[in-house]
Amino acid sequence: MSAPIMAPAIDARGIRRVYSAKPEPITALDGIDLEVRPGEFFGLLGPNGAGKTTLIKILTTLLLPSAGTARVFGFDIENETKKIRRIMNMVSGGEQSGYGILTVREQLWMFGQFYGLGTREAWARVDELIEAVGLGEQRLQRVSALSTGQRQKMNFARGLLNDPWILFLDEPTLGLDVAAARQVRELVTSWQASVPGRTVLLTTHYMAEADELCERIAIVDRGRVLAIGSPAELKQRVQRESIFRIELDRLDGGASALARVPGVVSATVAATDAATSGGRQAVEVNLVLEDDGALGGVVAALASLGSRILALRKSEPTLEEVFVELVGRGFDDEETDGRGAGGDGAAVVGTGGRGRSHESGVPGPEDLE
Ligand SMILES: Nc1ncnc2c1ncn2[C@@H]1O[C@H](COP(=O)(O)OP(=O)(O)OP(=O)(O)O)[C@@H](O)[C@H]1O
Ligand SMILES: [Mg+2]
Repeated sequence: MSAPIMAPAIDARGIRRVYSAKPEPITALDGIDLEVRPGEFFGLLGPNGAGKTTLIKILTTLLLPSAGTARVFGFDIENETKKIRRIMNMVSGGEQSGYGILTVREQLWMFGQFYGLGTREAWARVDELIEAVGLGEQRLQRVSALSTGQRQKMNFARGLLNDPWILFLDEPTLGLDVAAARQVRELVTSWQASVPGRTVLLTTHYMAEADELCERIAIVDRGRVLAIGSPAELKQRVQRESIFRIELDRLDGGASALARVPGVVSATVAATDAATSGGRQAVEVNLVLEDDGALGGVVAALASLGSRILALRKSEPTLEEVFVELVGRGFDDEETDGRGAGGDGAAVVGTGGRGRSHESGVPGPEDLE
């Protein structure tokens, strides 16, 4: 049965969750309002301890909220848990589910029994999913002999066994190498896109992953939603000026000739590089404009200076800059000293204390990869 498209996939209101802990209770969620549409690929983006897993546990009926209400496809998380469990599934990163001595095929069949599939139906579905997640070669291998990435693909097959309307993914690419993470992302996007109404709620602290996959993102920190929007909308919040990088064959008179053009906030020569354009001499200029409209004046000025434009690229801010703007610190920054922990991996959020790129130079599109 495919997902209905009338009721919101998720409708959470005023969700609070306080854990009793020593020396004092911990408020993991502090009033979360969230509406996710059927068919949406929605992301919860936030640093460690933000409350992402707690919210997922509540929506998947594993944990009760201290206050607030939530419905999943119209079903109440407190009173209709059985109905919710039938239409949802969850896959977490670093999941150790399964019995090592079973083969992949046996393991998945057993889960099929948990989900109430008939014997024959379960075998057919298991074999179909094993192929779909690319575990054909490992189907008769013991679960204990799977690599981390292979195990995560098996977890995905498990997560799709009951043909859920909504899939909750809690850091699904945690610990995977670049290739395995990409395969997992492709699996999820193709599963989601193939039937209208299929919905995904993904948590991640990988900025690039959220940016690439999610139609809308809620940025969460300390149990609160700080902002919700599409990646482009969120970035627009910090994009007050338009930033361009122009590559020219020459620039007589230097950048100051451009800085005088109306609407130009600043113009600086970034590099003069012989290798930039196939061995030709080229000049790269960073331009900060009040808005895109000022570009026309720049192009006219360049023409009158006799400069030819070899390349023109607009720079976008990153989601990390949005986060820094919202909470005044980076993802990996210690809250107390505000200093960065330093970038320790290409994809991980936060190069710590880098500040907005408006101040530290123009970010290239590579910042988004
Ligand atoms: N069982 C628990 N008992 C007490 N406190 C808890 C418990 N589970 C989570 N917390 C606390 O609640 C807060 C939110 O934790 P949660 O696991 O939801 O964050 P998260 O956003 O998933 O973080 P991460 O990115 O590290 O997975 C944290 O401060 C955490 O210490
Ligand atoms: Mg978590």
